[in-house]
Amino acid sequence: MNYYNPDGLAKHRPNKRECLKKIFTKIKDSLSTSRLTKIEYITFGGSDFADLHDLASSLQGGKIRIASVISFENDARTFELAQNSPTADLLRIFGQKIKVIHNSFPDGLNRSKRPPRCQRVFFLDYFGTFDEENALHLAELLDSRDILPDDWLIITSCLDGRVVKNERFITKHVGRCQLFFQMPNPSKDFVVRNFVDTMVKLAIDTHRKIQPRDYCVKANLVSKYYYADTTPMGVWCFKLEKCVSSNEPIYLVDMNFTRIGAKKKKVASRFRRRIISRGPRIINRSISRLFPSR
Ligand SMILES: C[S@@+](CC[C@H](N)C(=O)[O-])C[C@H]1O[C@@H](n2cnc3c(N)ncnc32)[C@H](O)[C@@H]1O
Repeated sequence: MNYYNPDGLAKHRPNKRECLKKIFTKIKDSLSTSRLTKIEYITFGGSDFADLHDLASSLQGGKIRIASVISFENDARTFELAQNSPTADLLRIFGQKIKVIHNSFPDGLNRSKRPPRCQRVFFLDYFGTFDEENALHLAELLDSRDILPDDWLIITSCLDGRVVKNERFITKHVGRCQLFFQMPNPSKDFVVRNFVDTMVKLAIDTHRKIQPRDYCVKANLVSKYYYADTTPMGVWCFKLEKCVSSNEPIYLVDMNFTRIGAKKKKVASRFRRRIISRGPRIINRSISRLFPSR
């Protein structure tokens, strides 16, 4: 039964919606050939679960079902709104299990039992720029086996130029880009499009150091998008897989962003527009003041 309007939230950050639908469709296509037919969706759904709408509409018509949804919310007001969100209510009426956890991710998830024959899709929809602390949380999830090979990991990171083009930020990340991509002189743009890739690798390497030799995971980058409904955001989609051997040296491959939505035209400031439109008049007036006709 169709219990949601797939276009209902299309106006709510349309570029983000398009980007998520592309990712979820990829996941659906990949799962359609797998023995796993259910998804446990772990998200930061905010107050209206727009991303859950995107997932549900992308899975429509296929054999893949959402077995359960866990949404993390660390903001008290948003948590309250999420509890009573019309989307969550509607989905519950139709039998969808939705649990909203009022904690900072991943507190509260630890070793929670996943439904049988189920793949997890993590959507870590951060507001800010993905950092070392976020990578550490990912390493913890790997250690506790809360995220496993075959699971999906989607990460958003803010790409506000004031932060990611800042010298301190670039200096902090450049060494890891050199090492993991074998790239001697990465440019600023290279660092900006690849710092999340290196942080995820950092988390995987931290985890691998304390694992038995026969257990080895890697994160394969599937796609990388850029949208700017408000501030510029990047979205990285990884699929976790078992490594062939734990000795495998894993270097990363540079992938560019696929941009969703048109580039915003630069709007000239009011001052510039006034100068452009009134410029000739102002110049004539100044000339006549300097050289008044007799
Ligand atoms: C970008 S919004 C979610 C939007 C939603 N996923 C969508 O696509 O419409 C992120 C939400 O997660 C919450 N949040 C951010 N970081 C979090 C964290 N580390 N743990 C728990 N909640 C977090 C924020 O308060 C916010 O409500």
